Amino acid sequence: MSVFDIRLETERLWLRPPQLSDFDGFAGMFGDEEAARHIGGHMPRAAAWRRFLQQPGAWVVQGFGMFSVLDKGTGEWLGQTGPWRPEGWPGNEIGWAFRRSAWGLGYATEATTAAIDWAFEHLGWTSIIHCIAPENAASQRLAQRLGSRQLRQATLPPPFENVVSEVWGQDASEWSIRRLRQQGG
Ligand SMILES: CC(C)(COP(=O)(O)OP(=O)(O)OC[C@H]1O[C@@H](n2cnc3c(N)ncnc32)[C@H](O)[C@@H]1OP(=O)(O)O)[C@@H](O)C(=O)NCCC(=O)NCCS
Repeated sequence: MSVFDIRLETERLWLRPPQLSDFDGFAGMFGDEEAARHIGGHMPRAAAWRRFLQQPGAWVVQGFGMFSVLDKGTGEWLGQTGPWRPEGWPGNEIGWAFRRSAWGLGYATEATTAAIDWAFEHLGWTSIIHCIAPENAASQRLAQRLGSRQLRQATLPPPFENVVSEVWGQDASEWSIRRLRQQGG
């Protein structure tokens, strides 16, 4: 089985590694100044193509990467979420980014919960982080909803060395207690 066969299912969503058909949605998100503000800034479609290839590359080379998130009913690409660990990163990140039309509907919480379950189950990680800009209130709130807390500040590796990031996160044990409670265990 290839990593590209991995499928996660939630109530409303499918999660799977990226495919070529996701690119239109991805390029749309990166063409949107507001959506792309905290993920490297907006960019034209041709530049978004190079960025798009990062995640399939991570899946092939590292065996994990961010999942594409799709609406189960329509197949529409809504965003991406999941594990991300570039060299020099301040921890094992679970990151996220959704197109603006998908905001405010709980999709990010639903998809990221499934992605964190997968990461703890399959990657042997004992903790996760989320690197969040101090002014990114939506991501701070999402991190809180997931049970993460602000741990410290960190500088990201070059070329982001001038970006100060809040590091949010939690341990695997905190996550499993939270999930057992949610599942009534
Ligand atoms: C961060 C992001 C994924 C949140 O998506 P979302 O669809 O709003 O998330 P959810 O619907 O699951 O909501 C999560 C929580 O965040 C809250 N929230 C959403 N937008 C908010 C905002 N602008 N300000 C404050 N809280 C916000 C929601 O109300 C919800 O909390 P609640 O249940 O207590 O009400 C989305 O805003 C996004 O993709 N932003 C652009 C990319 C980005 O910045 N990525 C992260 C880099 S660290």
